[in-house]
Amino acid sequence: MTTTIDSFAGEDILSVNQFDRASLNAIFGIAHEMRVLVERFGGAELLQGKILANLFYEPSTRTSSSFTAAMQRLGGQVIPINNVQYSSVSKGESLPDTIRTLESYADVIVIRHPEVGAAATAAYYAEKPVINAGDGVGEHPTQALLDLFTVQEELEQIDGLTVVMVGDLRYGRTVHSLTKLLLNYNVSFVFVSPDILRLPADVLEAVQTSGHSYSQVEDLHSVIGEADVLYMTRVQRERFTDLAEYDRVKDFFIADKALMAQAKEKMIVMHPLPRVGEISYALDDDPRAAYFRQMRNGMYIRMALLAALLGKA
Ligand code: NCD
Repeated sequence: MTTTIDSFAGEDILSVNQFDRASLNAIFGIAHEMRVLVERFGGAELLQGKILANLFYEPSTRTSSSFTAAMQRLGGQVIPINNVQYSSVSKGESLPDTIRTLESYADVIVIRHPEVGAAATAAYYAEKPVINAGDGVGEHPTQALLDLFTVQEELEQIDGLTVVMVGDLRYGRTVHSLTKLLLNYNVSFVFVSPDILRLPADVLEAVQTSGHSYSQVEDLHSVIGEADVLYMTRVQRERFTDLAEYDRVKDFFIADKALMAQAKEKMIVMHPLPRVGEISYALDDDPRAAYFRQMRNGMYIRMALLAALLGKA
């Protein structure tokens, strides 16, 4: 386990299991400084001369562009491979060879891939740090870090909160990573999903063995009044083999004004985005709607992580 920020230098970021409260505090402190830096000066030259390879085998808007912005605001440069269909991957190149290629040009590799464990495989072959930007239905650790940072910034505490996670808890990798990361704190969980989209057994088991209080329900209205954090998610259409099943469950939970009328006055609504109907646009003006601020926090967290991995934090 890595506990100080210095010990992240040269490391990979593959799973939230690598973090504890001390390292989270350190990263959040740096991310907060990055925010101040960006707001005052637009950035700094901390990573001048460094190059990041941004390798995305799955679609992305926020994760990809916030890594790019993070690197560029710290004075570094980016090799963007967002269209692997135009790279040698489409000629049949293996992941290890693609990784060996990129690390001969870059100092750090960010990878998103449809297979669970792909980032770990990349890290096995790479000497340079590898960051998991989503491995299929597995993990999305940097999203969980920015999610938790958002809770800390918005509510000024994490201990004592009730976190209500809603939607596709089965395939949503952001839910898997955030749930595990939250086990470092004294929180209560409410998991709201249709029966077929409940948390995977391994994540549920981690919650159970940790002794945190939790419940699994199918009705959002009955629990909304307890929420300090309402974490909405998209039903992950691309993970379904049977699209009729997807159609059946996709509109189960919608956060709208009627729902928010039953919520606490001091609470936040989060979403990793993209939203595809589960949060009404009418909520965007509600001060409790934190999802756009959350998205912006992604850049500060990724600036902090890049600085830490490249030994400049
Ligand atoms: C998420 C992802 O890719 O897992 N998006 C993101 O990184 N912000 C969530 C999603 O696609 O639903």
